[in-house]
Amino acid sequence: MAEEAVLGYLENNTEISDSGTFAEERGINHDEIVNIIKSLNGFRLVDAQDIKRERWVLTNEGKTYAEDGSPEVQLFLAVPPEGITREELQKKLKPTVYQIGCQQAIKNKWIEMGKSQVSRKLQHVDDRVRDALIQIQNGEAVSPDDINALKRRKLITSQIWKGYSVTKGPKYAPKRKKVATDLTRENLQRGDWKEVEFKEYNFLAKGQPTEGGCLHPLLKAWLQFEEMPTNNFVESSFWNFDALFQPQQHPARDSHDTFFLKEPSTTRTLPEDYVERVKRVHESGGYGSRGYGYEWKRDEANKNLLRTHTTAVSSRMLYALAQGPFAPKSYYSIDRVFRNEAVDRTHLAEFHQIEGLICDRGLTLGHLIGVLHDFFSRLGMSKLKFKPAYNPYTEPSMEIFSYHEGLQKWVEIGNSGMFRPEMLLPMGLPEDVQVIAWGLSLERPTMILYGIDNIRDLFGHKVDLSLIKRNPVCSIGL
Ligand code: PHE
Repeated sequence: MAEEAVLGYLENNTEISDSGTFAEERGINHDEIVNIIKSLNGFRLVDAQDIKRERWVLTNEGKTYAEDGSPEVQLFLAVPPEGITREELQKKLKPTVYQIGCQQAIKNKWIEMGKSQVSRKLQHVDDRVRDALIQIQNGEAVSPDDINALKRRKLITSQIWKGYSVTKGPKYAPKRKKVATDLTRENLQRGDWKEVEFKEYNFLAKGQPTEGGCLHPLLKAWLQFEEMPTNNFVESSFWNFDALFQPQQHPARDSHDTFFLKEPSTTRTLPEDYVERVKRVHESGGYGSRGYGYEWKRDEANKNLLRTHTTAVSSRMLYALAQGPFAPKSYYSIDRVFRNEAVDRTHLAEFHQIEGLICDRGLTLGHLIGVLHDFFSRLGMSKLKFKPAYNPYTEPSMEIFSYHEGLQKWVEIGNSGMFRPEMLLPMGLPEDVQVIAWGLSLERPTMILYGIDNIRDLFGHKVDLSLIKRNPVCSIGL
Protein backbone atom coordinates (compact mmCIF):
# COMPACT_ATOMS: atom_id res chain seq x y z
CA MET A 1 0.00 0.00 0.00
CA ALA A 2 2.82 2.39 0.88
CA GLU A 3 4.59 1.51 -2.36
CA GLU A 4 1.51 2.16 -4.44
CA ALA A 5 0.98 5.45 -2.65
CA VAL A 6 4.50 6.69 -3.43
CA LEU A 7 4.66 5.53 -7.05
CA GLY A 8 1.05 6.53 -7.73
CA TYR A 9 1.54 10.02 -6.35
CA LEU A 10 4.64 10.57 -8.48
CA GLU A 11 2.75 9.58 -11.61
CA ASN A 12 0.82 12.87 -11.45
CA ASN A 13 3.10 15.02 -9.31
CA THR A 14 6.72 15.98 -9.65
CA GLU A 15 7.70 15.64 -6.04
CA ILE A 16 6.88 14.37 -2.57
CA SER A 17 8.46 17.24 -0.70
CA ASP A 18 8.32 15.68 2.75
CA SER A 19 7.81 12.02 3.53
CA GLY A 20 6.61 12.97 7.03
CA THR A 21 3.60 15.01 5.95
CA PHE A 22 2.99 12.60 3.06
CA ALA A 23 2.72 9.68 5.51
CA GLU A 24 0.58 11.64 7.92
CA GLU A 25 -1.91 12.79 5.28
CA ARG A 26 -2.41 9.20 4.17
CA GLY A 27 -2.45 7.67 7.61
CA ILE A 28 0.52 5.47 6.78
CA ASN A 29 3.23 4.76 9.32
CA HIS A 30 6.27 6.91 8.48
CA ASP A 31 8.77 4.09 9.09
CA GLU A 32 6.97 2.00 6.51
CA ILE A 33 7.12 4.83 3.97
CA VAL A 34 10.82 5.30 4.68
CA ASN A 35 11.56 1.62 4.06
CA ILE A 36 9.71 1.68 0.75
CA ILE A 37 11.48 4.87 -0.36
CA LYS A 38 14.86 3.32 0.45
CA SER A 39 14.04 0.23 -1.53
CA LEU A 40 12.64 2.17 -4.53
CA ASN A 41 15.67 4.44 -4.40
CA GLY A 42 17.95 1.37 -4.49
CA PHE A 43 16.30 0.23 -7.71
CA ARG A 44 16.41 3.82 -8.97
CA LEU A 45 12.65 4.00 -9.47
CA VAL A 46 12.79 7.15 -7.39
CA ASP A 47 15.43 9.65 -6.34
CA ALA A 48 15.36 10.29 -2.63
CA GLN A 49 17.02 13.20 -0.81
CA ASP A 50 17.55 13.17 2.95
CA ILE A 51 15.70 15.64 5.13
CA LYS A 52 16.79 16.09 8.72
CA ARG A 53 14.85 18.16 11.18
CA GLU A 54 15.50 18.86 14.78
CA ARG A 55 12.34 18.64 16.78
CA TRP A 56 11.47 18.87 20.41
CA VAL A 57 9.92 16.07 22.41
CA LEU A 58 8.79 15.99 26.02
CA THR A 59 10.87 14.21 28.62
CA ASN A 60 9.06 11.98 31.12
CA GLU A 61 8.94 14.87 33.57
CA GLY A 62 7.59 17.12 30.81
CA LYS A 63 4.90 14.55 30.00
CA THR A 64 3.61 14.47 33.59
CA TYR A 65 3.40 18.28 33.66
CA ALA A 66 1.52 18.32 30.34
CA GLU A 67 -0.92 15.96 32.02
CA ASP A 68 -1.21 17.31 35.59
CA GLY A 69 -0.09 20.92 35.17
CA SER A 70 3.26 22.46 36.10
CA PRO A 71 4.34 22.04 39.73
CA GLU A 72 4.20 25.80 40.33
CA VAL A 73 0.55 25.96 39.24
CA GLN A 74 -0.30 22.82 41.20
CA LEU A 75 1.27 24.49 44.21
CA PHE A 76 -0.47 27.80 43.60
CA LEU A 77 -3.84 26.10 43.36
CA ALA A 78 -3.16 24.24 46.60
CA VAL A 79 -2.82 27.56 48.43
CA PRO A 80 -6.33 28.73 49.35
CA PRO A 81 -7.06 32.52 49.09
CA GLU A 82 -6.93 32.83 52.90
CA GLY A 83 -3.46 31.17 53.09
CA ILE A 84 -2.20 27.89 54.55
CA THR A 85 0.57 26.66 56.85
CA ARG A 86 3.67 25.19 55.27
CA GLU A 87 3.00 21.77 56.80
CA GLU A 88 -0.57 21.66 55.52
CA LEU A 89 0.58 22.67 52.07
CA GLN A 90 3.34 20.10 52.05
CA LYS A 91 0.86 17.37 52.97
CA LYS A 92 -1.33 18.22 49.99
CA LEU A 93 1.38 17.71 47.35
CA LYS A 94 3.90 15.14 46.18
CA PRO A 95 7.37 15.95 47.60
CA THR A 96 8.91 16.82 44.22
CA VAL A 97 5.91 18.91 43.19
CA TYR A 98 6.11 20.76 46.51
CA GLN A 99 9.82 21.39 46.19
CA ILE A 100 9.96 22.45 42.53
CA GLY A 101 6.60 24.24 42.83
CA CYS A 102 7.86 26.40 45.74
CA GLN A 103 11.01 27.39 43.88
CA GLN A 104 9.18 28.38 40.71
CA ALA A 105 6.20 30.03 42.37
CA ILE A 106 8.47 32.18 44.54
CA LYS A 107 10.58 33.06 41.51
CA ASN A 108 7.40 34.06 39.62
CA LYS A 109 6.29 36.12 42.66
CA TRP A 110 3.03 34.17 42.83
CA ILE A 111 3.21 33.31 46.50
CA GLU A 112 4.72 34.59 49.67
CA MET A 113 6.48 32.18 52.02
CA GLY A 114 6.27 33.41 55.60
CA LYS A 115 7.91 31.67 58.53
CA SER A 116 5.03 29.27 58.86
CA GLN A 117 2.33 30.72 56.62
CA VAL A 118 2.09 30.57 52.82
CA SER A 119 -0.18 33.02 51.01
CA ARG A 120 -1.08 33.98 47.43
CA LYS A 121 0.15 37.27 45.97
CA LEU A 122 -2.18 37.02 42.95
CA GLN A 123 -5.71 35.82 42.50
CA HIS A 124 -5.15 33.95 39.27
CA VAL A 125 -2.23 32.51 37.29
CA ASP A 126 -1.93 30.94 33.82
CA ASP A 127 -0.08 27.68 33.29
CA ARG A 128 2.20 28.83 30.46
CA VAL A 129 4.56 25.93 31.01
CA ARG A 130 1.84 23.38 30.54
CA ASP A 131 0.43 25.23 27.50
CA ALA A 132 3.85 25.30 25.86
CA LEU A 133 4.40 21.60 26.59
CA ILE A 134 1.06 20.70 25.03
CA GLN A 135 1.85 22.81 21.96
CA ILE A 136 5.15 20.98 21.54
CA GLN A 137 3.41 17.67 21.99
CA ASN A 138 1.05 18.64 19.16
CA GLY A 139 3.92 19.67 16.91
CA GLU A 140 2.95 23.35 17.03
CA ALA A 141 5.48 26.17 16.96
CA VAL A 142 6.66 27.61 20.27
CA SER A 143 8.69 30.78 20.88
CA PRO A 144 12.47 30.40 21.28
CA ASP A 145 12.26 31.86 24.79
CA ASP A 146 9.79 29.20 25.88
CA ILE A 147 11.92 26.49 24.26
CA ASN A 148 14.98 27.68 26.15
CA ALA A 149 13.15 27.81 29.45
CA LEU A 150 11.76 24.29 29.00
CA LYS A 151 15.12 22.98 27.86
CA ARG A 152 16.80 24.42 30.97
CA ARG A 153 14.25 22.68 33.16
CA LYS A 154 14.88 19.43 31.24
CA LEU A 155 11.21 19.16 30.32
CA ILE A 156 12.01 18.79 26.61
CA THR A 157 14.91 17.35 24.60
CA SER A 158 15.76 17.58 20.95
CA GLN A 159 15.36 14.66 18.63
CA ILE A 160 16.62 14.40 15.08
CA TRP A 161 13.85 13.47 12.73
CA LYS A 162 14.85 11.87 9.42
CA GLY A 163 12.75 11.71 6.32
CA TYR A 164 13.01 12.14 2.55
CA SER A 165 11.95 14.28 -0.32
CA VAL A 166 11.28 12.13 -3.37
CA THR A 167 11.17 12.62 -7.17
CA LYS A 168 10.95 10.18 -10.09
CA GLY A 169 14.09 8.20 -10.72
CA PRO A 170 15.61 7.14 -14.08
CA LYS A 171 13.84 3.77 -13.86
CA TYR A 172 10.53 5.17 -12.68
CA ALA A 173 7.39 3.19 -13.44
CA PRO A 174 3.98 3.57 -11.81
CA LYS A 175 4.22 -0.07 -10.77
CA ARG A 176 7.37 -1.92 -9.80
CA LYS A 177 8.03 -4.81 -12.13
CA LYS A 178 8.89 -7.98 -10.31
CA VAL A 179 12.45 -8.69 -11.27
CA ALA A 180 13.75 -12.24 -11.41
CA THR A 181 16.52 -13.24 -9.06
CA ASP A 182 17.35 -16.56 -10.70
CA LEU A 183 17.50 -17.89 -14.20
CA THR A 184 15.41 -21.07 -14.09
CA ARG A 185 15.07 -24.15 -16.26
CA GLU A 186 11.53 -22.95 -17.06
CA ASN A 187 12.84 -19.56 -18.25
CA LEU A 188 15.07 -21.43 -20.69
CA GLN A 189 12.42 -23.88 -21.86
CA ARG A 190 9.82 -21.19 -22.39
CA GLY A 191 12.37 -18.86 -23.93
CA ASP A 192 11.09 -15.95 -21.82
CA TRP A 193 14.60 -15.34 -20.45
CA LYS A 194 14.89 -12.83 -23.30
CA GLU A 195 12.22 -10.59 -21.80
CA VAL A 196 12.62 -11.26 -18.11
CA GLU A 197 14.23 -8.43 -16.19
CA PHE A 198 16.86 -9.74 -13.78
CA LYS A 199 17.78 -8.25 -10.48
CA GLU A 200 21.21 -6.70 -10.52
CA TYR A 201 23.93 -8.24 -8.44
CA ASN A 202 24.52 -6.39 -5.23
CA PHE A 203 28.21 -6.80 -4.71
CA LEU A 204 28.03 -4.82 -1.50
CA ALA A 205 25.55 -7.18 0.18
CA LYS A 206 26.77 -9.10 3.18
CA GLY A 207 27.36 -12.74 2.41
CA GLN A 208 26.14 -15.70 4.42
CA PRO A 209 27.85 -15.84 7.78
CA THR A 210 30.86 -18.11 7.40
CA GLU A 211 31.10 -21.38 9.27
CA GLY A 212 34.24 -20.62 11.24
CA GLY A 213 35.68 -22.49 14.15
CA CYS A 214 35.03 -21.12 17.60
CA LEU A 215 36.35 -21.75 21.05
CA HIS A 216 34.57 -24.06 23.46
CA PRO A 217 33.93 -22.44 26.88
CA LEU A 218 36.27 -24.97 28.49
CA LEU A 219 39.00 -24.00 26.08
CA LYS A 220 38.43 -20.33 26.80
CA ALA A 221 38.83 -21.00 30.52
CA TRP A 222 41.91 -23.08 29.74
CA LEU A 223 43.44 -20.24 27.76
CA GLN A 224 43.35 -18.06 30.84
CA PHE A 225 46.58 -19.88 31.52
CA GLU A 226 49.04 -18.67 28.99
CA GLU A 227 51.81 -21.00 27.90
CA MET A 228 55.29 -19.58 28.30
CA PRO A 229 57.69 -19.83 25.36
CA THR A 230 60.19 -22.48 26.47
CA ASN A 231 61.87 -22.99 23.11
CA ASN A 232 65.40 -22.22 24.25
CA PHE A 233 67.36 -24.94 26.01
CA VAL A 234 70.39 -22.65 26.07
CA GLU A 235 70.05 -19.87 28.58
CA SER A 236 72.36 -17.34 30.15
CA SER A 237 73.28 -17.66 33.81
CA PHE A 238 71.69 -14.25 34.19
CA TRP A 239 68.13 -15.41 33.53
CA ASN A 240 68.64 -18.87 35.00
CA PHE A 241 70.21 -17.66 38.26
CA ASP A 242 71.00 -13.95 38.76
CA ALA A 243 67.57 -12.61 37.90
CA LEU A 244 66.25 -15.16 40.41
CA PHE A 245 68.40 -13.66 43.17
CA GLN A 246 70.55 -16.77 43.23
CA PRO A 247 74.01 -15.69 44.46
CA GLN A 248 76.97 -16.34 42.18
CA GLN A 249 78.64 -18.61 44.75
CA HIS A 250 75.61 -20.86 45.04
CA PRO A 251 76.63 -24.54 44.66
CA ALA A 252 74.06 -25.12 41.90
CA ARG A 253 76.11 -22.74 39.75
CA ASP A 254 79.03 -25.09 39.88
CA SER A 255 79.88 -27.14 36.79
CA HIS A 256 79.34 -30.25 38.89
CA ASP A 257 75.65 -29.43 38.85
CA THR A 258 75.13 -27.37 35.71
CA PHE A 259 76.14 -27.92 32.09
CA PHE A 260 77.91 -24.80 30.85
CA LEU A 261 78.35 -24.22 27.13
CA LYS A 262 81.77 -24.04 25.48
CA GLU A 263 80.50 -22.62 22.23
CA PRO A 264 79.07 -19.96 22.38
CA SER A 265 80.22 -19.60 25.94
CA THR A 266 78.59 -16.26 26.71
CA THR A 267 75.35 -14.46 25.99
CA ARG A 268 75.34 -11.51 23.62
CA THR A 269 72.74 -9.17 25.02
CA LEU A 270 71.05 -8.51 28.33
CA PRO A 271 68.84 -5.54 29.27
CA GLU A 272 71.52 -3.28 30.71
CA ASP A 273 69.59 -1.10 33.12
CA TYR A 274 67.90 -4.17 34.58
CA VAL A 275 71.29 -5.93 34.87
CA GLU A 276 72.46 -2.91 36.86
CA ARG A 277 69.52 -3.22 39.29
CA VAL A 278 70.11 -6.98 39.67
CA LYS A 279 73.79 -6.35 40.41
CA ARG A 280 72.84 -3.80 43.08
CA VAL A 281 70.30 -6.02 44.76
CA HIS A 282 72.85 -8.87 44.97
CA GLU A 283 75.59 -6.62 46.26
CA SER A 284 73.84 -4.25 48.63
CA GLY A 285 70.13 -5.05 48.54
CA GLY A 286 67.52 -2.31 48.44
CA TYR A 287 63.73 -2.72 48.44
CA GLY A 288 63.98 -3.44 52.17
CA SER A 289 66.69 -6.11 51.71
CA ARG A 290 70.36 -6.15 52.77
CA GLY A 291 71.45 -8.14 49.73
CA TYR A 292 74.25 -10.71 49.89
CA GLY A 293 77.14 -8.30 50.35
CA TYR A 294 79.54 -9.73 47.73
CA GLU A 295 81.02 -8.34 44.56
CA TRP A 296 78.73 -9.32 41.69
CA LYS A 297 80.52 -10.24 38.46
CA ARG A 298 79.10 -9.65 35.03
CA ASP A 299 81.24 -12.46 33.55
CA GLU A 300 79.50 -14.97 35.74
CA ALA A 301 76.06 -13.76 34.59
CA ASN A 302 77.08 -13.88 30.93
CA LYS A 303 77.94 -17.60 30.98
CA ASN A 304 75.70 -19.74 28.79
CA LEU A 305 74.30 -22.98 30.16
CA LEU A 306 71.62 -25.57 29.50
CA ARG A 307 68.79 -24.28 31.62
CA THR A 308 68.54 -26.09 34.94
CA HIS A 309 64.90 -25.22 35.48
CA THR A 310 61.99 -23.66 33.58
CA THR A 311 61.99 -20.92 36.21
CA ALA A 312 64.53 -19.26 33.88
CA VAL A 313 61.67 -18.79 31.43
CA SER A 314 59.45 -17.50 34.23
CA SER A 315 61.98 -14.82 35.10
CA ARG A 316 62.05 -13.67 31.47
CA MET A 317 58.24 -13.62 31.36
CA LEU A 318 57.92 -11.61 34.54
CA TYR A 319 60.52 -9.13 33.37
CA ALA A 320 58.61 -8.72 30.09
CA LEU A 321 55.34 -8.33 32.02
CA ALA A 322 56.89 -5.61 34.18
CA GLN A 323 57.72 -3.54 31.08
CA GLY A 324 54.04 -2.76 30.37
CA PRO A 325 51.13 -1.58 32.51
CA PHE A 326 50.44 -4.33 35.03
CA ALA A 327 47.68 -6.83 34.39
CA PRO A 328 47.13 -10.04 36.40
CA LYS A 329 48.45 -13.13 34.59
CA SER A 330 48.61 -16.87 34.92
CA TYR A 331 51.38 -18.68 33.08
CA TYR A 332 52.41 -22.28 32.69
CA SER A 333 55.07 -24.24 30.89
CA ILE A 334 56.09 -27.85 30.34
CA ASP A 335 59.52 -28.47 28.88
CA ARG A 336 62.99 -29.95 29.11
CA VAL A 337 65.59 -29.01 31.71
CA PHE A 338 69.15 -30.24 32.26
CA ARG A 339 71.24 -31.03 35.32
CA ASN A 340 74.71 -32.45 35.61
CA GLU A 341 73.72 -35.38 37.80
CA ALA A 342 74.98 -38.90 38.21
CA VAL A 343 72.42 -40.96 36.33
CA ASP A 344 70.67 -43.63 38.40
CA ARG A 345 67.24 -45.27 38.76
CA THR A 346 65.54 -42.01 39.69
CA HIS A 347 67.80 -39.37 38.12
CA LEU A 348 68.52 -38.36 34.56
CA ALA A 349 70.68 -35.55 33.27
CA GLU A 350 67.69 -34.25 31.39
CA PHE A 351 64.06 -34.37 32.37
CA HIS A 352 60.89 -32.28 32.09
CA GLN A 353 59.39 -29.70 34.36
CA ILE A 354 55.85 -28.47 34.72
CA GLU A 355 55.71 -24.97 36.08
CA GLY A 356 52.86 -22.64 36.92
CA LEU A 357 52.69 -19.09 38.19
CA ILE A 358 50.05 -16.54 38.99
CA CYS A 359 50.74 -12.84 39.38
CA ASP A 360 48.27 -10.48 40.93
CA ARG A 361 47.96 -7.82 43.56
CA GLY A 362 47.56 -9.00 47.12
CA LEU A 363 48.25 -12.74 46.69
CA THR A 364 49.11 -14.66 49.88
CA LEU A 365 50.49 -18.04 50.89
CA GLY A 366 46.85 -19.03 51.40
CA HIS A 367 46.22 -18.46 47.69
CA LEU A 368 49.23 -20.61 46.82
CA ILE A 369 48.02 -23.46 49.04
CA GLY A 370 44.53 -23.20 47.55
CA VAL A 371 45.80 -23.19 43.98
CA LEU A 372 48.08 -26.17 44.67
CA HIS A 373 45.18 -28.17 46.10
CA ASP A 374 43.14 -27.33 43.04
CA PHE A 375 45.96 -28.06 40.61
CA PHE A 376 47.05 -31.39 42.09
CA SER A 377 43.57 -32.68 42.78
CA ARG A 378 42.89 -32.40 39.06
CA LEU A 379 45.90 -34.65 38.53
CA GLY A 380 44.33 -37.11 40.96
CA MET A 381 46.36 -36.08 43.99
CA SER A 382 44.07 -34.60 46.58
CA LYS A 383 45.81 -35.47 49.83
CA LEU A 384 48.58 -32.88 50.13
CA LYS A 385 51.03 -31.80 52.79
CA PHE A 386 53.46 -28.91 52.69
CA LYS A 387 56.87 -28.66 54.28
CA PRO A 388 58.89 -25.44 54.64
CA ALA A 389 61.76 -25.37 52.17
CA TYR A 390 64.38 -23.04 50.77
CA ASN A 391 64.85 -21.56 47.31
CA PRO A 392 66.93 -18.44 46.74
CA TYR A 393 64.05 -16.88 44.80
CA THR A 394 61.02 -17.71 46.94
CA GLU A 395 60.05 -16.80 50.48
CA PRO A 396 58.22 -18.57 51.93
CA SER A 397 58.94 -21.79 50.04
CA MET A 398 57.17 -25.12 50.39
CA GLU A 399 57.89 -28.64 49.26
CA ILE A 400 54.72 -30.42 48.24
CA PHE A 401 53.98 -33.99 49.34
CA SER A 402 51.15 -36.23 48.28
CA TYR A 403 49.96 -39.38 50.00
CA HIS A 404 50.49 -42.41 47.79
CA GLU A 405 47.81 -44.99 48.54
CA GLY A 406 49.71 -47.81 46.86
CA LEU A 407 53.00 -47.19 48.62
CA GLN A 408 51.19 -46.13 51.80
CA LYS A 409 53.51 -43.18 52.28
CA TRP A 410 53.97 -39.50 51.55
CA VAL A 411 56.01 -38.78 48.41
CA GLU A 412 57.51 -35.49 47.34
CA ILE A 413 55.86 -34.23 44.19
CA GLY A 414 56.90 -30.62 43.79
CA ASN A 415 58.30 -27.37 45.03
CA SER A 416 56.68 -23.99 45.35
CA GLY A 417 56.76 -20.54 46.87
CA MET A 418 56.17 -16.83 46.57
CA PHE A 419 58.77 -14.98 44.53
CA ARG A 420 60.92 -12.68 46.63
CA PRO A 421 60.74 -8.87 46.37
CA GLU A 422 64.49 -8.94 45.60
CA MET A 423 63.53 -10.74 42.39
CA LEU A 424 60.31 -8.89 41.46
CA LEU A 425 61.04 -5.27 42.34
CA PRO A 426 64.24 -4.82 40.26
CA MET A 427 62.17 -6.05 37.28
CA GLY A 428 59.88 -3.08 37.80
CA LEU A 429 56.72 -4.86 38.95
CA PRO A 430 54.48 -2.75 41.23
CA GLU A 431 55.20 -3.19 44.95
CA ASP A 432 51.81 -4.71 45.78
CA VAL A 433 52.09 -7.42 43.12
CA GLN A 434 52.85 -10.91 44.37
CA VAL A 435 53.71 -13.97 42.34
CA ILE A 436 52.90 -17.48 43.53
CA ALA A 437 54.65 -20.28 41.69
CA TRP A 438 55.19 -24.00 41.71
CA GLY A 439 57.19 -26.56 39.80
CA LEU A 440 57.24 -30.32 39.47
CA SER A 441 58.79 -32.92 37.27
CA LEU A 442 56.70 -34.57 34.59
CA GLU A 443 58.56 -37.86 35.05
CA ARG A 444 57.74 -38.43 38.69
CA PRO A 445 53.96 -38.71 38.53
CA THR A 446 54.25 -40.58 35.24
CA MET A 447 56.54 -43.25 36.74
CA ILE A 448 54.23 -43.76 39.65
CA LEU A 449 51.23 -43.85 37.34
CA TYR A 450 52.68 -46.49 35.01
CA GLY A 451 54.43 -48.40 37.74
CA ILE A 452 57.85 -47.75 36.24
CA ASP A 453 60.61 -47.82 38.85
CA ASN A 454 63.59 -47.04 36.64
CA ILE A 455 63.50 -43.67 34.97
CA ARG A 456 65.70 -45.00 32.15
CA ASP A 457 62.83 -47.24 31.09
CA LEU A 458 60.71 -44.16 30.60
CA PHE A 459 63.01 -41.70 28.91
CA GLY A 460 66.26 -41.83 26.99
CA HIS A 461 67.96 -44.16 24.52
CA LYS A 462 67.26 -47.34 26.48
CA VAL A 463 63.50 -47.09 26.23
CA ASP A 464 61.76 -50.20 24.90
CA LEU A 465 59.61 -49.01 22.01
CA SER A 466 57.19 -51.93 22.27
CA LEU A 467 56.51 -50.91 25.86
CA ILE A 468 55.41 -47.51 24.63
CA LYS A 469 53.00 -49.15 22.18
CA ARG A 470 51.55 -51.48 24.79
CA ASN A 471 50.98 -48.81 27.41
CA PRO A 472 47.35 -48.14 28.18
CA VAL A 473 46.00 -44.63 28.31
CA CYS A 474 46.00 -43.81 31.99
CA SER A 475 44.41 -40.80 33.54
CA ILE A 476 47.00 -39.04 35.57
CA GLY A 477 46.69 -39.87 39.23
CA LEU A 478 48.74 -41.47 41.93
N1 PHE B 1 62.56 -24.08 40.08
C1 PHE B 1 62.13 -25.00 41.10
C2 PHE B 1 62.81 -26.35 40.86
O1 PHE B 1 63.49 -26.50 39.88
C3 PHE B 1 60.64 -25.18 41.12
C4 PHE B 1 59.95 -23.94 41.58
C5 PHE B 1 59.30 -23.18 40.69
C6 PHE B 1 59.97 -23.57 42.91
C7 PHE B 1 58.64 -22.03 41.06
C8 PHE B 1 59.33 -22.46 43.32
C9 PHE B 1 58.67 -21.68 42.39
O2 PHE B 1 62.64 -27.26 41.65
